[in-house]
Amino acid sequence: MTWDPLAVPAQDGRTAVITGGNAGIGYHVAEQLARAGAHVVLAGRNAERTRTALAALRASVPRASAAEVRLDLADLRSVRRTAEQLAAAGPVDLLVNNAGVTSSGKRAETAQGFELMFGTNHLGHFALTLLLAPALGPDARVVSLGSLTHARARLDFDDLQSRDGYRSMAVYGRSKLAVLLFAAELDRRLRANGSTVRSVAAHPGWAVQGLTPARPPLWEHGPFAALRSAPLALLAQGKDRGAWPVVRAATDPDAVGGQYFGPRGPGSLKGPPAVQVTAGSAHDRVAAARLWTVSEELTGVSWPG
Ligand SMILES: NC(=O)c1ccc[n+]([C@@H]2O[C@H](COP(=O)([O-])OP(=O)(O)OC[C@H]3O[C@@H](n4cnc5c(N)ncnc54)[C@H](OP(=O)(O)O)[C@@H]3O)[C@@H](O)[C@H]2O)c1
Repeated sequence: MTWDPLAVPAQDGRTAVITGGNAGIGYHVAEQLARAGAHVVLAGRNAERTRTALAALRASVPRASAAEVRLDLADLRSVRRTAEQLAAAGPVDLLVNNAGVTSSGKRAETAQGFELMFGTNHLGHFALTLLLAPALGPDARVVSLGSLTHARARLDFDDLQSRDGYRSMAVYGRSKLAVLLFAAELDRRLRANGSTVRSVAAHPGWAVQGLTPARPPLWEHGPFAALRSAPLALLAQGKDRGAWPVVRAATDPDAVGGQYFGPRGPGSLKGPPAVQVTAGSAHDRVAAARLWTVSEELTGVSWPG
């Protein structure tokens, strides 16, 4: 089928929670969903940055229905508080697990002592999703953000916290493989429970800030920025377009649980969103089930029911 990323199906009456909705791809997912009529909740760890994003969103989509909530995925106490707050506010129809951290080289840890990328990108979202599960509406979707880097990654169950031979990019890829294993396992468990909720995944290709349209007061181009970023456009796209596969995963009426969306262009780095296939390692059901059990143990959060 053809999919027009600029004509997102109407989302009126649906509530979308976007983690990391205060910046980058998450902001643009929120903007595109708000434009389609969804009530969007920007979940961010920093009050000022999140309010700035809300101001940009309202300037861009004057009729937007939008709110914000505090969420630090690197602290499970914050994840629990936010899940309680969101559940109390009513059903969640779209949970977009977008926030992500890439380490700058030195190994770091979350508040509970997990390696920062595994702890934030996977464990934080794992806990948030399971805690919010009872509050998901019957036609809800959970969208998880993967990355092309997952394809080269391997999970090491003897060293999930990456204490040995820490290499930042490899650890990032591993965290994204964990995210994709979780997305697939979540969908299997939903099906096994007879649930109508869908778990889908997406990746943005290569999405860079320099090619992203200005959204004052959140993001404005400095002088000559467009000129400097122009060569990148050969391979990369703006974060507004990086949001397209995520929005398609969230709203395409034909999307089925377990599907994965990404840009259709060469190397899947840019282009309109299309259905894609994750690497074989992300289809490993034994690893996915084991990761689920370990994630329950580490976070202390279990699948409801
Ligand atoms: N850009 C790409 O080319 C690319 C490629 C593959 C995958 N991805 C994935 O796409 C997603 C969005 O990427 P992006 O390019 O938009 O990144 P970005 O511009 O760096 O934004 C990351 C977002 O995650 C939030 N975040 C980080 N740690 C958090 C925490 N502990 N608690 C709550 N929020 C936290 C950030 O909040 P703060 O503002 O507070 O830092 C920010 O809102 C990520 O999952 C990333 O791994 C991106």
